[in-house]
Amino acid sequence: MKVLVTGGAGYIGSHTVVELLQAGHEAVVLDDLSNAQADVINRIETITGRRPAFYENDCKDADALRRVFREHEIDAVIHFAAYKAVGESVREPLKYYRNNLDSAITLLEVMEEVGCRKLVFSSSATVYGPENEAPYREDMPALQTSNPYGWTKVMIERILKDYVTAHPDFCAILLRYFNPIGAHESGLLGDDPNGIPNNLMPYIGRVAAGQLEKLTIFGDDYPTPDGTCQRDYLHVVDLAVGHLRALEYAADHEGAEAINLGTGHGVSVLELVNAFQKVNELTLPYVIGPRRDGDLPAFWADPTKAKEVLGWEATHTLEDMCRSSWLYAKNCARK
Ligand code: UFG
Repeated sequence: MKVLVTGGAGYIGSHTVVELLQAGHEAVVLDDLSNAQADVINRIETITGRRPAFYENDCKDADALRRVFREHEIDAVIHFAAYKAVGESVREPLKYYRNNLDSAITLLEVMEEVGCRKLVFSSSATVYGPENEAPYREDMPALQTSNPYGWTKVMIERILKDYVTAHPDFCAILLRYFNPIGAHESGLLGDDPNGIPNNLMPYIGRVAAGQLEKLTIFGDDYPTPDGTCQRDYLHVVDLAVGHLRALEYAADHEGAEAINLGTGHGVSVLELVNAFQKVNELTLPYVIGPRRDGDLPAFWADPTKAKEVLGWEATHTLEDMCRSSWLYAKNCARK
């Protein structure tokens, strides 16, 4: 299969490109490098021995997309390209709505022009919002969220469902990710956001590397066993493999299908911090701070549907996630 991966130089995108190439598929990456490094393409080649075609373009650029489809016989698209910082989306909502919605709509329009009918979309557990109780199942109402970033995911899911209603021969798989962490075992790919990280694991990596002084745990008075928030952390390589299974499923199915990708287990912030210290044999300075606005106490996936429909389940342990994250963070710190 030849697959266009928008946002393929980013954190989840790059790991997915590696899995695609290693499974014998061909990958074409389109990425404007607004939150990724060009060197990622070289690293993908180092890991796989194969170099994906690379277009440094914005996914809102219809002509650039047309050129990709003209130059390659694309069978399916995985759409990652999007802005993803929750806090920034609250401060700059228009930037998020313009970029994320426009990218998705432009991509769909060009796919329609060229007759490409298979799409895997990078959605998020954020669509379950604050009303549902964990574990989240795909048949729960998923129309609430708490920030503009999350709303772009809800809206694009809606757009895709409406598009499929109008075009029943199209297949859109909406993958709702929980909390991806970890890095490629080579230490060459991982999560290295610009500026001070918002997400827990890249923040921990920088503290462990001595680039940030200490971790602040946002609240220890939640109604959870140790008082800190619980999330469903899954290894980014498991997540990447989930995209391959979704592509295989889409190849001979039609319709729109939302599917959770998570482990099914909640892990608290303190449990994650302790696992990171233990597996990497280091001490992580941390303090307990106030709660962060908008954080939910606890949520995790019901991953039954992914197993039944895609034959997918997470295989990496929390220790694998902590070990690989540190390997990558050490490499980044040396740069
Ligand atoms: N946390 C800290 N200290 C930090 C950073 C995070 O204690 O410095 C805690 C948070 O309070 C939370 C947990 O670590 O309890 C995880 O926080 P992340 O920011 O890593 O992840 P979130 O669960 O807040 O957000 C993630 C994705 C979003 C997605 C959301 C819901 O980043 O894209 O899950 O699915 F929308």
